[in-house]
Amino acid sequence: MKHRRTQRLRRTPALRKLVAETSISADDFIAPLFVREGISAEQPILSLPGVSQHTRQSLLAEVKELIGFGISSVILFGIPEKKDATGSEAYNPDGIVQLAIKDLKESFGEEVVAIADLCIDEYSDHGHCGVLDKNKQIDNDATLEIYENIAVVQADAGADMIAPSGMMDGQVAAIRSALDGTGHHMIPIMAYSAKYASAHYGPFREAVNVEIAGGGDRKQYQQDVTNAKEALLEIHQDILEGADIVMVKPALSYLDVISAASQKIDVPLAAYNVSGEYAMVKAAGEAGWIDGEAVALEHLLAIKRAGADIVLTYFAKEVAKRIAKSS
Ligand code: PBG
Repeated sequence: MKHRRTQRLRRTPALRKLVAETSISADDFIAPLFVREGISAEQPILSLPGVSQHTRQSLLAEVKELIGFGISSVILFGIPEKKDATGSEAYNPDGIVQLAIKDLKESFGEEVVAIADLCIDEYSDHGHCGVLDKNKQIDNDATLEIYENIAVVQADAGADMIAPSGMMDGQVAAIRSALDGTGHHMIPIMAYSAKYASAHYGPFREAVNVEIAGGGDRKQYQQDVTNAKEALLEIHQDILEGADIVMVKPALSYLDVISAASQKIDVPLAAYNVSGEYAMVKAAGEAGWIDGEAVALEHLLAIKRAGADIVLTYFAKEVAKRIAKSS
């Protein structure tokens, strides 16, 4: 029987390792973390097993553990006590994320890359990513002014990177000029460039206590699931506006977009392995229907193989732990 050349290279684990085209390491990960105002103990998030809403204190412990596993980048989402029409807690210098960033920088300095998610949905009483006009429509340009304020407050607090996730047109240019105008020239922007109006964000909305008013959706500003070309348009536009890193989100249902983008751009490409993608693997794993850890690793490798350089994932700690054990 004649064997193909490819099979000869699969004979032993060491050989397979030698010819492996894709690898994943803790260096590739950004761990999403939630910090909530007004709670006295960490609160587990039911639909994201293993993930919690943190107090300022427990956040520090979590980041210390992550650093121990080689993960130095985190992205922070805040849950304020008070929500209002403009999401003013997002640009309060004493808002929960700003305080948490200060804590992180005080405790870990340059050991950690503290990324601030920039959006108002967690802070607004209507749950949209932008402010609303008289007719309850998103007011894109009024929102940009708010985003500029948030970016400056986050950078003042010590954020190492700003990550606008609201999908407003012109958000990267507005934030770039606000940062440059306040002496924050060296603070990069990671833009959620191709962000789809996906059904995979459910657990995240539980994590940040967000409900869109009137049962609405984000289809007027997030991308339509049917389209791939406009993702490239969004990505190119963000790069022109000054984005340092661009992102595709979610990851698994959009591997085609990740692949196409990675071939066309020359800035680092991030992909967000979102809450719903995580929850599905966890649920099936806990039911014993799949080997959850193996599936998680396979998913993350697929995202990298498609062309992502950086992966935002709730699996960061678990997978980094596993990699640390096996190497
Ligand atoms: C908006 C934001 C969302 C996520 C990250 N930033 C939710 C949304 O657009 O509705 C989702 C992340 C996830 O599902 O893991 N601030």
